[in-house]
Amino acid sequence: MAPLPISSIRVGQIDDVQELIKSKPNKVPERFIREEYERGVVVSSLKTQHLHHQIPVIDLSKLSKPHNDDFFFEILKLSQACEDWGFFQVINHGIEVEVVEDVEKVAKEFFDMPLEEKKKYPMEPGTVQGYGQAFIFSEDQKLDWCNMFALGVHPPQIRNPKLWPSKPARFSESLEGYSKEIRELCKRLLKYIAISLGLKEERFEEMFGEAVQAVRMNYYPPCSSPDLVLGLSPHSDGSALTILQQSKNSCVGLQILKDNTWVPVKPLPNALVINIGDTIEVLSNGKYKSVEHRAVTNREKERLTIVTFYAPNYEVKIEPMSELVDDETNPCKYRSYNHGDYSYHYVSNKLQGKKSLDFAKILN
Ligand code: OGA
Ligand code: NI
Repeated sequence: MAPLPISSIRVGQIDDVQELIKSKPNKVPERFIREEYERGVVVSSLKTQHLHHQIPVIDLSKLSKPHNDDFFFEILKLSQACEDWGFFQVINHGIEVEVVEDVEKVAKEFFDMPLEEKKKYPMEPGTVQGYGQAFIFSEDQKLDWCNMFALGVHPPQIRNPKLWPSKPARFSESLEGYSKEIRELCKRLLKYIAISLGLKEERFEEMFGEAVQAVRMNYYPPCSSPDLVLGLSPHSDGSALTILQQSKNSCVGLQILKDNTWVPVKPLPNALVINIGDTIEVLSNGKYKSVEHRAVTNREKERLTIVTFYAPNYEVKIEPMSELVDDETNPCKYRSYNHGDYSYHYVSNKLQGKKSLDFAKILN
C-alpha cells in the first residue's frame, strides 16, 4: 500500500455495486460481465466436499508449547501447507471472538451507510486507500462485484487520518483493537514459518523492521447472475502474510487455484484463513508459494471479509534468504529489490493473477 502520486487516470463510470442492486436488482451491467475464459473451471461439488478437507487446518494451541511431539507435528503440517497450498486455516488462534465480531459489526455498519456518507472517504483513482474499487486503471477494464474500504494501519505514517471514518462511531476504536491482535498473530505465525523453514525464530521479525500493516474490507453484495461476474479478480497478494476473516455464517466465496482448478475454501467457525504472499515466496526462494486466488459471489447472500496485509517496512531489501539458496541444488530464483518499489509496482497495476511477481523473477 505504498502511496501513489495524484494521477489523472481515466477510469470511466464505476458503479457502486450496493447502489446498483438497490435500483436494478436483476440487471448486471456490461462492465461487470466477464469473458467465459475468465470464469475458469471450478471443482465439481462432489469433489469439492472431498477437497475441503484437504485445505490444511493448523491448530495454534499445539504450537504454544514448544519442543514436544505435537509442536513438531504441527510445524510439519504448516510447512506442507505453505509448500502445497500457500493457504491454511488457523484455529485456536487466541483472538477473542468478541474482538472479531466487533470489527465485523462496525464494518457491516459502515457498508450499510448511505452512499453520500461513504463517499466522504473516497478511494481516488490510482490510490488504494478509502472507499471504492481499487486497481482500476482504464475505462474498458472490467469491474469486480464488490465494494471495498481499505486503510493503512501501521506504522502511523502510512495512515491517512482523513479516511478513518467518524461514523460508525466505534469504527476506529474497534479496528484499532482488532489490528493490534492481528499484528501479534502475524508475528507469531512468522516465527512458526521461520522454524518450519529451518531458520532461527526471529529471522523475519529482525529483517522486516517496523512492519507495514493494512486492512481491506471487502463487501460482496448478492448478484442475480453470479456466474457472469467475479467478486474479486484473480491475484496473488503482495504482502508477506495475509489474514482473511470471513464474517460469521459467511457463504463460500474465496477460491484458490490448485492444479489449474478453482477450489473453494469453506469457512470454519472461528477460524482465520492465512495465505503466503509474494514476499515470503521470494524470501523462501519459491519453496513457499504465494497462490493465486479470487472471490466469487452468491445469488442470495451477501459476503463480508476483513483482510489484513502484513509486510516488511518499505525500506527493506528483499531477496531469497541466503540460508535457503544453494548455487548447485537450489539456485536463486528472484533478484533483489526494495520492498517499497515492489509495493508501488503492485498497486499501480491491475490485478492479474501472479503477473506482479514477474517484477522479481530471474528468467533463465
Ligand atoms: C484480498 C482477497 C478474498 C475474499 O482482499 O486480497 O483475496 O474472499 N480477498 O475477500
Ligand atoms: Ni488476496
